[in-house]
Amino acid sequence: MKGLLLAGGHGTRLRPLTFTGNKHMIPIANQPMLFYGLRHLAQAGIREVGIILGTVHEGIEEAIGDGRAFGLEVTYIHQGDPRGLADAVRCARSFLGDEPFVMYLGDNLLQQGALPFVDLYERDTPDAVVGATVVADPRSYGVVELGPDGSIVSISEKPAHPKSNLALIGVYLFTPAIHDVVAKLKPSARGEFEITDAIWALHGTGAKVAVQKVEGWWKDTGRPEDLLEANERVLRAFPRDQLKREGTVESGAEVRGGVALGLGTVVRAGARIHGPAVIGSGCEIGPGAYVGPATALGNRVKVVGASVRRSILLEGATISGPLEIVDSILGRESRVVAQEPARRISCILGDATMLRL
Ligand code: TTP
Repeated sequence: MKGLLLAGGHGTRLRPLTFTGNKHMIPIANQPMLFYGLRHLAQAGIREVGIILGTVHEGIEEAIGDGRAFGLEVTYIHQGDPRGLADAVRCARSFLGDEPFVMYLGDNLLQQGALPFVDLYERDTPDAVVGATVVADPRSYGVVELGPDGSIVSISEKPAHPKSNLALIGVYLFTPAIHDVVAKLKPSARGEFEITDAIWALHGTGAKVAVQKVEGWWKDTGRPEDLLEANERVLRAFPRDQLKREGTVESGAEVRGGVALGLGTVVRAGARIHGPAVIGSGCEIGPGAYVGPATALGNRVKVVGASVRRSILLEGATISGPLEIVDSILGRESRVVAQEPARRISCILGDATMLRL
């Protein structure tokens, strides 16, 4: 069994962050999003993983290398422009060979990981397994309709009038039977080679497509609010004994709840941190600063006299002055500097952005 981890695409919904970096390297609880998928593939017993790269892919190969640190053997496959999920399978054709594979969208986070997909495949030997979960509004997903016996009746991509509330999630398992249908696929009305069309065509050949209902939480982190929710969920689920406090907490500072502090980080007298929160290395949480729950601060972040809650601040970001930042994502080396009167803001700032209030 091989793994195919997708890290291409344009990530338009996460602009401006994705103008200067790959969306899958945006951290969730201070770990690049892509690392979660890699670990789930390794936990499912997979060793060889192909990573699909798009046009903006800087930093991915540097961070993952040959995959050894994850117990994996990683091969990089260049897709270039995103022509759809089925096109990613086509690009990986020679890497995949004649083995079954788990295809994992790099922007998906699911609590249960990929092992149940492999277990179902080994138990029932279907030709494909798709993951699905009930969502409130399925119109922006692939939607699967099941018959009374649990077999698939229809699959459609982002339908205006969904036939069920069962959405496809971003983990699939395919046997080599998928390659023949992918090779014959035509682009959809939006110009992409859709994996839903490939699955529907596979189903049409009489192949058995099984549905793995996803237990536990699942998040597609395509939009800023999804990223913040994923960050909060991961932080809240973090086992407290794994949170290392390597930084310095001055007397007169308050650190409460599950909080990780990286090496060289200083929490100054008069600062308060209420977890769950992760704070990288070389950070300064200055006097009068407040870091509230569900916040992740990357390395070298500075919070001086300001408050931040339920936010993600990337490496080198600084906030200072009478300011409260909530539900926000601040890019690398960005700065928000406030003066009286005090403000409360929520924003998504690209890398190296300067905001004076
Ligand atoms: P999407 O979320 O559909 O697309 P995107 O990441 O480009 O984001 P946006 O819609 O905001 O522009 O992609 C789902 C996942 O699949 C994501 O991890 C990127 C990846 N992908 C590829 O690797 N190649 C592709 O051709 C496409 C369409 C997506």
